[in-house]
Amino acid sequence: MQNQLESAFSGRKIVVGVCSSIAVYKSAELVSAMVKLGADVSVVMTKNAARLMSPRIFQTLSRNKTHVSMWEDIPDWKPEHISLAESAELFLVAPATANTIGNFARGIAPDMLSTLYLAMRAKTLVAPAMNCDMYAHPAVAENMEILKRRGVRFVDPETGPLACGKNGAGRLAAVEKILESAAEILSEK
Ligand SMILES: Cc1cc2nc3c(=O)[nH]c(=O)nc-3n(C[C@H](O)[C@H](O)[C@H](O)COP(=O)(O)O)c2cc1C
Repeated sequence: MQNQLESAFSGRKIVVGVCSSIAVYKSAELVSAMVKLGADVSVVMTKNAARLMSPRIFQTLSRNKTHVSMWEDIPDWKPEHISLAESAELFLVAPATANTIGNFARGIAPDMLSTLYLAMRAKTLVAPAMNCDMYAHPAVAENMEILKRRGVRFVDPETGPLACGKNGAGRLAAVEKILESAAEILSEK
């Protein structure tokens, strides 16, 4: 499996979207694993995600700039959400919140991550994470269906004890499972 992962990830440009779920810390492990597999990883966090975990962690682990805002002074003329969208071979959003899934589904772009989704032409893989009642809500289910019809792939969350104290479906899929799904997509012709 390690060899398969290395051949899928080595030298590939992955843009990772990080949302403000309690599972945000697992995303750091995911980014670190992809970098070790030889991928060139750039991270885009929502502003709320950056309130839960420092962008500095992702910047250090990815060895690339971590993006949170579209409104910073940048040295390049091209807006970063466009240059990142053009360079990505895979757009992986993990963890994905109900809010960001809704933004993607409805084409609402109030922040860098959801703007990036609209500009993105690379294959997109979304790993949702949320409370089980949120995950079961018809609004969330409908938004995921819209995205699936559009070709967006999902790594289903796991069922088990949740950070909120409940037990149900909504835990972010295991890092290994997300890596395997991403490798599968990267290996497609
Ligand atoms: C500690 C904490 C944990 C949260 N965990 C989740 C979560 O796992 N999934 C989710 O959809 N929302 C979660 N939320 C709510 C989102 O942060 C909230 O809906 C936010 O507006 C989403 O913003 P974003 O999609 O821009 O990151 C959490 C909020 C807090 C304060």
